[in-house]
Amino acid sequence: MKDFASLIKERRSTRKFTSQLLNPDQVAAILKAGLMAPASKRKNPWQFVVVEDKEMLKKLSACKPHGAAFLEGCALAVVVLANVMESDVWIEDASIASIFMQLQAEDLGLGSCWCQIRNRQTEHEEDASQYIRGLLNIPYQLEVLSVIGFGYKEQPNKPFDESRLQWEKIHLGTYQLPEEKAEKDEV
Ligand SMILES: Cc1cc2nc3c(=O)[nH]c(=O)nc-3n(C[C@H](O)[C@H](O)[C@H](O)COP(=O)(O)O)c2cc1C
Repeated sequence: MKDFASLIKERRSTRKFTSQLLNPDQVAAILKAGLMAPASKRKNPWQFVVVEDKEMLKKLSACKPHGAAFLEGCALAVVVLANVMESDVWIEDASIASIFMQLQAEDLGLGSCWCQIRNRQTEHEEDASQYIRGLLNIPYQLEVLSVIGFGYKEQPNKPFDESRLQWEKIHLGTYQLPEEKAEKDEV
């Protein structure tokens, strides 16, 4: 088990996976992390579809022309849905559940990557969410936020390079415009 600081530093997007399958305990741990995610007013508007079937992974990878191809090579995809009728902040709730699962995967030494679905289109300009609804029998009140792909990393990730931290995005006390910040730094 990693300490939290290492976990967030070492979690990088993995898009190349080996062919090794995940075991049921690993899959359960990932799903538990999603189910333990906090949600506004504890409404838990999310639902998760677990996909391991190679044919279906391939179909999911065609949900948009860029940034989805990696899904074909993953061992597991979790399609993160949320009921838009149950919560007005379903995007936040489903996003938090998505990243919780990614962090759990990293803690297990597995790789993962987020595939954005909401507001994306297929190559035929069909709504990507609608395309996935059709593939997986998802009812209309459930929106597809993301598909998270998981698997064994083909190569270890490079940990986040802390020299790239954008400290200029931190504002102490009140928001400062970039020119105000520069002035302050000159003093
Ligand atoms: C909301 C969101 C949407 C993303 N969508 C995609 C995507 O559709 N395809 C993809 O390959 N990566 C996607 N990513 C991964 C980002 O590209 C990645 O997190 C970012 O480049 C930082 O790299 P890192 O995760 O390795 O630190 C997404 C990440 C987030 C948080």
